[in-house]
Amino acid sequence: MNNVLLLNGSPRGKKSTSASLGNYLLGLLKEANVESKMLETRNQINTEEKITEMLEAIKVADFVILFTPLYDDCQPYNVVKVQEIIFKQKMNLENKFFLPIINSGFGEPEQISEGTIPIYKRFASQVGFKWGGSLAIGGGEMLQGRYGKQLHEVGNMAKNAIVELEKIVGSIKSEEEYPDTEKILIPGYFYKWPMKNLVTYINTRSWKKEAEKKGEKVDARPFL
Ligand SMILES: Cc1cc2nc3c(=O)[nH]c(=O)nc-3n(C[C@H](O)[C@H](O)[C@H](O)COP(=O)(O)O)c2cc1C
Repeated sequence: MNNVLLLNGSPRGKKSTSASLGNYLLGLLKEANVESKMLETRNQINTEEKITEMLEAIKVADFVILFTPLYDDCQPYNVVKVQEIIFKQKMNLENKFFLPIINSGFGEPEQISEGTIPIYKRFASQVGFKWGGSLAIGGGEMLQGRYGKQLHEVGNMAKNAIVELEKIVGSIKSEEEYPDTEKILIPGYFYKWPMKNLVTYINTRSWKKEAEKKGEKVDARPFL
């Protein structure tokens, strides 16, 4: 493979888990002498000039890797828009691979693999991309991308993701298939007592506080 295009689909842009995963992969690809660049989709959909720039980048790419968060079983708006743009363009994508890397907030990558990956598979087959495999990452907030942290700065938490990104580079270089893969970044002890109870308590409290700030009556029981 000569040319890899990375698309960052996070509405958070440069300060996102998608961006930190993408930056790390970009570094690995550069080390492996594979020409690559990353575009932020939220900046590529608003003017004809930017759309053309993105489509030109897709035209010369052999491999398109999309990094994006999970939004309610689906993709964020700007990714839907990119999919629509590619669909309408009727480009020849026959020899190009498409590989989505999707991260979610909760530690349940199966929400991605069961619900969302089929949507991306359908998109790929409708526009003519070859399926290049996929990576579903549960607990993506652990990578602290929204604070601008890079993978090498978050220690062990990034270990699982890094191993997979290295495998992806290996399969791009050797043109071997990368499988549909699920990874959880949240350590197992988060799911056991007492951490489980503590995390549930803290989460519930902060969700309630957020809802109250927006005027919701969080303890209302109207059907009692
Ligand atoms: C509108 C919205 C919907 C979301 N839906 C889900 C969801 O269904 N399941 C989940 O685990 N996380 C969900 N999340 C959390 C994001 O997937 C998570 O914060 C992710 O790490 C953000 O990645 P990014 O920094 O690359 O944008 C949602 C976030 C937003 C803003």
